[in-house]
Amino acid sequence: MSPLSKSPAAHATIYLKDYKEPDFLIKTVDLTVELGEADTIVTSRLDLARNNAAAKKLSLNGEHLELVSVAMDGRTLEAAEYKVDGKHLTLNIPAKTNRFHLDIKTRIKPQENTALEGLYKSSGNFCTQCEAQGFRRITYYLDRPDVMAVFTTTIIGDGTRYPVMLSNGNLTAENTLSDGRKSVTWHDPHPKPAYLFALVAGDLAMVEDSFITRSGRDIKLRIFVEKGNEDKCGHAMTSLKKSMKWDEEKYGREYDLDIFMIVAVSDFNMGAMENKGLNVFNSKYVLASPETATDADFDGIESVIAHEYFHNWTGNRITCRDWFQLTLKEGLTVFRDQQFSADMNSAAVQRIGDVQRLRAAQFPEDAGPLAHPIQPQSYVEINNFYTATVYEKGAEVIRMIHTLLGEEKFRKGMDLYFERHDGQAVTTEEFVSALEDGSGVDLTQFRRWYVTPGTPEITVNEKFDEKTGTYKLTLQQSNAKAGADFKPLHIPLRMGLLDENGKAMAFTEGPFKGKNSGVFDLTKKRETFTFAGLKSPPRASLFRGFSAPVKINQQMDDRDLAFFFAKDEDLFNRWDAGQRLANNIILKQIEKQDETAALPEAFMEAFADILADKDLDRAFTAAALTLPGEQDIAQKMPVVDVDAIHKVREEARRQIGLRFEEEWRRLYDECSSAPAPANQPESSSRKLKNTALTYLIATGKEDYVGLADRQYRTSDNMTDSVAALSGLKDITHPVREALFADYYDKWQKDALVIDKWFMLQAMAVRASTIADVKALMDHPAFTLHNPNRMRSLIGAFASGNPVYFHERSGEGYRILSGVIAALNKTNPQIAARLVAPLGQWRRYDAGRQGLMTAELEKILKLPDLSDHVYEMANKSLHN
Ligand code: PHE
Ligand code: ZN
Repeated sequence: MSPLSKSPAAHATIYLKDYKEPDFLIKTVDLTVELGEADTIVTSRLDLARNNAAAKKLSLNGEHLELVSVAMDGRTLEAAEYKVDGKHLTLNIPAKTNRFHLDIKTRIKPQENTALEGLYKSSGNFCTQCEAQGFRRITYYLDRPDVMAVFTTTIIGDGTRYPVMLSNGNLTAENTLSDGRKSVTWHDPHPKPAYLFALVAGDLAMVEDSFITRSGRDIKLRIFVEKGNEDKCGHAMTSLKKSMKWDEEKYGREYDLDIFMIVAVSDFNMGAMENKGLNVFNSKYVLASPETATDADFDGIESVIAHEYFHNWTGNRITCRDWFQLTLKEGLTVFRDQQFSADMNSAAVQRIGDVQRLRAAQFPEDAGPLAHPIQPQSYVEINNFYTATVYEKGAEVIRMIHTLLGEEKFRKGMDLYFERHDGQAVTTEEFVSALEDGSGVDLTQFRRWYVTPGTPEITVNEKFDEKTGTYKLTLQQSNAKAGADFKPLHIPLRMGLLDENGKAMAFTEGPFKGKNSGVFDLTKKRETFTFAGLKSPPRASLFRGFSAPVKINQQMDDRDLAFFFAKDEDLFNRWDAGQRLANNIILKQIEKQDETAALPEAFMEAFADILADKDLDRAFTAAALTLPGEQDIAQKMPVVDVDAIHKVREEARRQIGLRFEEEWRRLYDECSSAPAPANQPESSSRKLKNTALTYLIATGKEDYVGLADRQYRTSDNMTDSVAALSGLKDITHPVREALFADYYDKWQKDALVIDKWFMLQAMAVRASTIADVKALMDHPAFTLHNPNRMRSLIGAFASGNPVYFHERSGEGYRILSGVIAALNKTNPQIAARLVAPLGQWRRYDAGRQGLMTAELEKILKLPDLSDHVYEMANKSLHN
């Protein structure tokens, strides 16, 4: 067997250290895509240039393709002149050939594409998804981000079925062919990697607007949706215009084509995709009206629209050299979208949400078998590395650079980054160097964040010398994942000191003299900061605004925490102190094994203070009055006991509900009738009102079931409707059954609204849950093959219902592994994403460990196991 025809090794690992520049580059691509009902013919002309004098072969990526013909410089090649296997088309290139072109014709079947990568059909429309490696399912190509080419794309097809035909860049031609078919040509002048290619064809409705850039260019903005959804694009369009303006003002970045298009599709593996000039979105992040979308959905749309738009500069103009650099674009773009959302909304509430997401998804990942640095050093399947670590922790790393440099120097660094690397495919090292050079701040030690897995833990020791008025703060860093070669990280510590009344004590010396808050550099394994000239012992508010993604280990009793909860001028730390207080109390109740024990008075009083504080933003109040989630509490237990956590937390909610019943009722009415304060969006009031509702329902009093019923029946918005259903989801009561039935009846034609119906039931904690979930899997509206629908039931159950997912019989685990098996071949990317909950097995008792690992073993024995699922299950079991 010749080496060329050897089939590729199963589940091969790819290493960053093996990176080599491409042997050949592609200058231009001329693509013609003839869309058909049975199959689609793709013809490409590639203009190639040698990049390595020694290279003898050109190996193009291609998967799930039927090769029709290949020609080199106009001469059709015979079968003996090339090799094709399941992953490559390989040609011999004569040593002296430096510049040549290839004409390649392939046949593909988008109608049969269930993986939703490459070209596929969704609701009768053609669309593409090419990141990370989907383009190789369209044609043979050098499918790697450091190969950047100018694309010209001609789409040919039935103009009645597909009146709208889109690709990247600007429209340059539109014709009717002699056979009646329609042909359109798009040209994108910006060289780009294949992962940013997009094509859409279908019978879509369009909503149009425009944006004038600060240099006066008039940009056409178009959102394409399925017909009938035109009236649900307003919020997405407004968000887009705000994003365009914000990027000009905050980063000096202008849009660079004459048209910006967004297409909403209902079958999509991820949230959205930043293809150059033609973003493709999961319809969940485009379509919204107050009747059909919750306030949280509106926020999600604003941030995802911004995220994809911001990629135009951080991702597209400057892209990744290879996929190990993914956080170069993702961490940076998440940071930018978080900054944007903080500017558009309440900054403190935004920050709380960012950190909640980080702690809920990233901390467990970083503590478990799938831990990896934000720049992974190896992978089997790159799709498995679109993780909370690369995205969310990656954003925290950028935020720390921002904190260390300060706003002005950060901007200087970013300016240099854009200037130096525009049009290039670069590494995270080049990014950090540009920030360093632009700001003049040394980031040598800081770079360790890129290659260190695990969440650092900071142990705090404090000493106050009454005689000299000197306070010594000693911090020690450790990292359970770093092992023997632990090297201290450069950690920004934003902090302030408070006196016993909660008043800020300004620093008396050093760089922050006279200020209430400052940023200190923690660079050693153990480091002491000394603060002199203090009249009384201070209380230190550490890591304000969550200035580093670390866990803090600080001796604080309930009274200390209640103090910060009531007094800290840093709203994030105020909220966080409340969460820590509640966590401690719940953990203590669990230890006592007496879930009905009364909550400590200190806690109730702290709660009462927040309830009474009228100056707080209502959304902040709602966050401060919400107990940490069950999974959050679980992270603090040595062995997770899902049942005890649920029981104790529910009992705490019942006690808080009863204790403040009058206040909850007052708040409920106030927030329902009184208009929201002028500068706050209505959503803050709704959030607080619905927090009150859940506490009222928690009292167990029948009256409040009636209140939820009334809220549902009189609601004119989805936020209130869902809050009512959510408040009742755990009980078994005729009102609950009636409302869920009514909701289905009313919304059955709106897929996104029905997803919520599946999700609420998947997350219900009541005796019939397992049976309910199984029955819902057989519901006519359920399908495993639409990612949103699958996630709304299975994803919500496995990740959002700890009590029943971990039910003792193991039935929850079996449901999940059954779904993974069913999706392994049809949509491996989605199947692999479901494995993580089973990967947490080490956190549970022996019985559950056995059941969970048994399912992982079963998964590893599946026939035709995909690389995707293999990597996740294998690491989950053995790492
Ligand atoms: N690059 C997309 C984003 O974060 C995410 C994505 C990855 C979408 C892979 C599809 C496939 O904006
Ligand atoms: Zn992104």
